[in-house]
Amino acid sequence: MAILYQKEKRIFTIHTKNSTYQMQADAHDRLLHLYYGRHTEGEMDYLLIFRDRGFCGNPPDLGNDRTYSLADLPQEFPTQGTGDFRSPACELETADGRYGCDLKFDSYTITEGKYSLPGLPAVYAGKEEAQTLKIVLRDPAVPVRVELYYGVLPDLDIITRAACIVNEGKERIWLNRALSASIDIASGDYDLVSFWGHHGLERNFQRVPVTHTEQTLQSRRGMSSHQFNPFCILAEKDTTETSGSCWAMQMLYSGGSMAVAAKDPFGSTRFQMGVAAYEFRYPLEAGESFHTPEAVMSYSREGFSALSIHLADCIRQHVIRGSWKGKVTPVLLNSWEAFYFNFDGEKLLRLGSEAKSLGVDLLVLDDGWFSNRSDDNSSLGDWTVNEKKLGMSMQELVRRIHDMGLKFGLWVEPEMVSENSDLYRSHPDYALRTPGREPVRSRNQLVLDFSRREVVDHIFDALCAVLDGTGIDYIKWDYNRSIVDIYSAGRETGRVLYDYILGLYDLLDRIGKRYPAMLIEGCSGGGGRFDAGMMYYTRQTWCSDNTDAIDRLKIQYGTSFGYPADVMGAHVSIVPNEQNGRITPLRTRGITAMPGTFGYELDPSKLSEAEKKEIRAQIRMRNQDADLIFHGDYRRLSSPFTDPVTAWSITAKDGSRVILSAVKTALEFDAQQYVRLAGLTPDAWYRREEDGVLFAANALMEAGFPLPAQKGDYTAYEWHFTRVDARA
Ligand code: GLA
Repeated sequence: MAILYQKEKRIFTIHTKNSTYQMQADAHDRLLHLYYGRHTEGEMDYLLIFRDRGFCGNPPDLGNDRTYSLADLPQEFPTQGTGDFRSPACELETADGRYGCDLKFDSYTITEGKYSLPGLPAVYAGKEEAQTLKIVLRDPAVPVRVELYYGVLPDLDIITRAACIVNEGKERIWLNRALSASIDIASGDYDLVSFWGHHGLERNFQRVPVTHTEQTLQSRRGMSSHQFNPFCILAEKDTTETSGSCWAMQMLYSGGSMAVAAKDPFGSTRFQMGVAAYEFRYPLEAGESFHTPEAVMSYSREGFSALSIHLADCIRQHVIRGSWKGKVTPVLLNSWEAFYFNFDGEKLLRLGSEAKSLGVDLLVLDDGWFSNRSDDNSSLGDWTVNEKKLGMSMQELVRRIHDMGLKFGLWVEPEMVSENSDLYRSHPDYALRTPGREPVRSRNQLVLDFSRREVVDHIFDALCAVLDGTGIDYIKWDYNRSIVDIYSAGRETGRVLYDYILGLYDLLDRIGKRYPAMLIEGCSGGGGRFDAGMMYYTRQTWCSDNTDAIDRLKIQYGTSFGYPADVMGAHVSIVPNEQNGRITPLRTRGITAMPGTFGYELDPSKLSEAEKKEIRAQIRMRNQDADLIFHGDYRRLSSPFTDPVTAWSITAKDGSRVILSAVKTALEFDAQQYVRLAGLTPDAWYRREEDGVLFAANALMEAGFPLPAQKGDYTAYEWHFTRVDARA
């Protein structure tokens, strides 16, 4: 049993393979957090400290007891207005102007299987794989019911959380904040690891101490964003890739999220995640409920690599759905960097035939195929095929590509509208705009109001009109700006951003159901919506518009902390790189893209014969290693932010085979670099396939081995190791 209830003390214990989570509905009916950490036994209410502390208020139902204060007790779902002055998980306001609520334990249920959330992505699992704990809290004074949901996947060390807030009264209430998860850790010093970025350089690793200054990381953009990925780690000071405690929180949400971390004056640390508070004021009429998006939590006492592997497995097995789940996805060639907007049908057919001769499986036609779109200033929203530009119908183009033995994919940006479009001219109200003000433009486009059902319906019909009957195998679902003008006629502004995301998920769900065999790649100016919420609908996600291999080392390093390698869209492009002008060897570009979904972003007709030969070899190698890449454990072996060599490995779950990759980013004359492996079967022997040399696993993990000396910038290495039964 993963979830236990101890009746006398009303203690809930959640066990996973390697972790334990505990909370108590105490004698005063408050739900207190007791513990989250390494697997342990017994009741831990002895950790609670009751002390009369100055300026720490006491709940009215405790009479004169000054030793009980929610200002310092650890809580499970802290609310405003109870005397806890730390960051709340929930803030609400009643129609008669009362703020806050004081939630008391009401009841609980434990069920087999995993709960789901209406209209929102959620981790899913079978009855034999997961359990759900639901705890109901109520406030006797404010007619509100809060249901806390805990999903447990014991084998993966995953605990999920979500809350549902129900207005049980007759008047409207407003939620001013409704986070998904909050934990209080009684003692210790921690770091907060987060992933910041911008367009073209997403998910940079940042590690800062958690102090008494409350840190709030937030996307105010209506999207998960390049700037703040909705995934954070709390780590002990000495936690490394292979040792030490760390706790992850990851949102299954594609709108703006926030994280809060702070040490309180008495030394405990609060760590929270949920929907961004920015422009959030959600009205609930009598009987209505609000579901927070889901937060996935995991704990590891073996450092970051183990934590990343838990999260990657959870996404691979319990978030990604559909016919591409667990399968190796096709090697693709995308037309964007090859042609940008400058193509016609014949050019695309030539591109297809070149791609085929290299061993590519899927040709993707990127932006520019519809309406009058010849640059990025017009036509978004008008999803009609520009047959004049193509010189043929979409059906014909797809058929001719299929005839070459290639799959065919198409770029779309369904949530956007250009002012220069028929859609905008006929329905200006379909765009998010603040009345009386010119909208803020970004890439000269506006965002459609997906909080409105009729707008989503219109785009659904338009997309179906293009896709139906064509046999298109793949779409790239792009999203190229942030939301600024948050206003939707007839709808309270404080609900628009959340309702927008429900509209997006509804559309993605309908498209997924209508085209069940289709592979969908998420994209947002590269990796601006690289979140686990999107992964419920899209099998893979374009990682960044920056295809430079050296910048990619950082982007993919950061991304790998929270997401499996095989969802990362990673392509080889030409040099000098189109984004930053850097020149890197083709081998380095191939090795860097290899752990991702893999593909090309170039025009093969501009390549030399030698380059084409090398690309054919890269694709052969990728296909040979694909099973390991798509199902193995990815480990970071060094950091592109601090080390002269960036190395990583992918190890089969049973440890039988390993791919080791390394890229030198610093060129220091005569400096010798070593790479140390991790995650091998201890005490075993491994043979390096490239040259047959035999190594002891412990030696590879402890001492590593030297990288060969090689002249030139950005040299890259890849080796394969196979475990052998005995030394002989
Ligand atoms: C975004 C994407 C690119 C490309 C362009 C097309 O920037 O990230 O890959 O599809 O849009 O306009």
